[in-house]
Amino acid sequence: MRYIPTLLLLVAVFFSCKNESRPSKEDPAMFREKPAASTISEPLQLPKTGAGNFESLVADFEDKDRGIWQKPELVISFLGDLKDKTVADIGAGTGYFTFRLVPKAKRVIAIDIDPRFINFLDSVKVRLPEVYRDRFESRLAKFDDPLLKPGEADNVVIVNTYAYIENRAQYLKVLYQGIAPGGQLLIIDFKKNNLPVGPPDEYKVSLAQVEHELTTAGFKISKVDKDVLDYQYIILATKPVK
Ligand SMILES: C[S@@+](CC[C@H](N)C(=O)[O-])C[C@H]1O[C@@H](n2cnc3c(N)ncnc32)[C@H](O)[C@@H]1O
Repeated sequence: MRYIPTLLLLVAVFFSCKNESRPSKEDPAMFREKPAASTISEPLQLPKTGAGNFESLVADFEDKDRGIWQKPELVISFLGDLKDKTVADIGAGTGYFTFRLVPKAKRVIAIDIDPRFINFLDSVKVRLPEVYRDRFESRLAKFDDPLLKPGEADNVVIVNTYAYIENRAQYLKVLYQGIAPGGQLLIIDFKKNNLPVGPPDEYKVSLAQVEHELTTAGFKISKVDKDVLDYQYIILATKPVK
């Protein structure tokens, strides 16, 4: 009888450990694991990053090895000369791209729907050399509207975020209004094929689907690249000058 409390304690510890180690759908950390092959052909909606642990999201986005596969400077060069341009970074997260764009552009608007990232961006802004600080602006947007003023952005980048956007047809219509005529939209996201980084295949939006959604929204595809980045495709689209 005197062993019963110890036994109950061991059973309680066993079940609490089991729950902690169970991968949760809301935890993007699970995306670092190689998922099993899927039979689903339609992309699923990615769980909102807002549900994930903030520290692990920051660590993930700012991973020191990310530069090897993300090649941010090369990616940014797709936009050409940014000296006189306003660039909106939609789904800016920790500002991995935002803060690399600031020294090159006239103005950079870091847009996100998660207030934790807006606070993070504002707090790390002080690390920018003083001459650049006025070029940076953060903007808390809505999940269905980036809250750009008409024609406000000359260029828009959406990196590793496109698949999080729900009802993309409607979103692209709204975004189109926020881009100046002749302006560019750069979308970078993960290729299918069970890669060591990025979400499982069933959550990814295929290159063909992005192209289709962009042209339906009125953009012209100016460049498609599947080779520069090992794990990602790059699409550059333009808003035609009427
Ligand atoms: C995977 S992170 C990518 C962050 C950053 N672009 C990068 O490459 O490091 C996706 C980001 O998009 C944001 N996000 C998700 N849905 C969004 C939406 N509808 N509009 C704007 N941002 C969104 C999330 O809060 C998160 O910061």
